[in-house]
Amino acid sequence: MNREDFPMLKKDIVYLDNGATTFKPYEVIESMVDYYENYSGNAHRGDYDISLLVDQEYEKARNIIKDFINAREREEIVFTSGATESLNMIVNGFFKNFLEPGDEVIISKSEHASNVLPWFRLANTNGIVIKYVDLDNNNYVTLDNIKRAVSDKTKVIALAEITNVIGDVRPIKEITSFAHQNNIFVVVDGAQSIGHKKTDVIDSDIDFLAFSGHKMCGPTGIGVLYGKKELLEELRPTNLGGGMNESFDNENEVYLKELPFRLEAGTPNIAGAIGLGKAALYLNKIGLDKISNYEQELRRYLIDGLESLDYIDIINEEGDSGIVAFNVDGIFSQDVAVYLNKYNVCVRAGNHCAKILKDKIGVNNTVRVSLYFYNTKDDIDRLVKLLSNKEKIVEEMI
Ligand code: ALA
Repeated sequence: MNREDFPMLKKDIVYLDNGATTFKPYEVIESMVDYYENYSGNAHRGDYDISLLVDQEYEKARNIIKDFINAREREEIVFTSGATESLNMIVNGFFKNFLEPGDEVIISKSEHASNVLPWFRLANTNGIVIKYVDLDNNNYVTLDNIKRAVSDKTKVIALAEITNVIGDVRPIKEITSFAHQNNIFVVVDGAQSIGHKKTDVIDSDIDFLAFSGHKMCGPTGIGVLYGKKELLEELRPTNLGGGMNESFDNENEVYLKELPFRLEAGTPNIAGAIGLGKAALYLNKIGLDKISNYEQELRRYLIDGLESLDYIDIINEEGDSGIVAFNVDGIFSQDVAVYLNKYNVCVRAGNHCAKILKDKIGVNNTVRVSLYFYNTKDDIDRLVKLLSNKEKIVEEMI
C-alpha cells in the first residue's frame, strides 16, 4: 500500500522493524526541507516575516495533532522529543507532586522501559508502590485482571495501548471507565499504537498520552505529550529556560507562560513538528482503520508462514497488531537477525527494552517482526523463505 510514497522503499530491502521506527513519505521530508530552505527562523520569538511564518506552521502542526487524536483544545498538545520524554514529564512533572508514599501505580511486565523506569525512580525517591497487573495466558492485559490488581491505594494505571513485543491491544476505553469510577488516573503510552489504530482521547477518556512522531511516518526527535487541560495546568515544568516563562526577577520569582508554551522550554524542534503534522495528515489520508485492517491481514499471513516451520516458536500467535515475536529453536535471536540482514531483511532481535517481560514469557530474547501498511505479502514470503532453511542459518553463523 502506498509504497511509491517512500524513498526508502526504493532500496532492495525488506523492512520489518517498524516498531523501532517507520519510514517517512516524501511529503513529510519535503515539508521539513521546505522549512530549512525557505523560512528557517525560530518560533515565538521574532517580529519579522519568516519568523511569523514559522509560528503559523508550528501552531498549525499543533492543531493537526489536536485533531488527529481528537483532543478538545490545542493547549493540551505539548511537543516533546518523543514518547520517552513525554512519559518522564508526566511522572516527574505531575505524579511526583501528586502521589504520596504508599500510593500504588499499576503497570505490566510487558511495558517498555520508558513506562517502567520513571516509575521505578518515583518508587525509590517518593515511596510509591509499583504493582504489576497479571498477564493472561496470551500475555494480555484484561479488564478483569486490572480489577483484581486495583486496591484502595491505587492512584494510577499506566499502560501501553499496544506493547512492543507481545503487540497486544489493550482495552483502554474499558480500563479508563473503570479507573475513573475509582478515582484512578490512566496514563497511556501510545508509541506503538499511534500510527496503527485510531486514537481518540475523548472517546477513550485518557488522562495522559505519550507518543513519538517517528513511529507514525514522522521525523525522529519529536513527540507529543497530551494531557487533559486541567491536569496539564498542574504539571510542573521539568525543563526551565527560554520560551516557557513570562518574566522573572532577581528575587527568584518566575512567572510562567500559559499552556502549552510553559512546557516547551528552549527552541523547539520546529522542523520536526512541521513534519509530524504532515505525517498525521498523510496517515489520515490513508485511514487508520484501513491501516489496522491491512496489518491484521498481513499478520495472519505471517503467522501461517511461520507456523509452517516446526522449529519456530511464536511467542504471540494470537494478536491484533502487526507485531510478531518468535524464536528459531536452538538459535540465538541476534544470530537470526544477522543472518536475515545478509539478505537485506531487517528485523529486531533482543529484549526490545521490555526487560521484565522475560519473567512471564520465559525467554530473554526474541526475533521481532513489526509490520506496517507499506509491507507486502512478498516481504513476508522473502522472510519465511529465508527462515525455511534452518541448516543454512546454522551454517552461516559459523
Ligand atoms: N521502542 C522501540 C522498539 O520497540 C525502539 O523497537
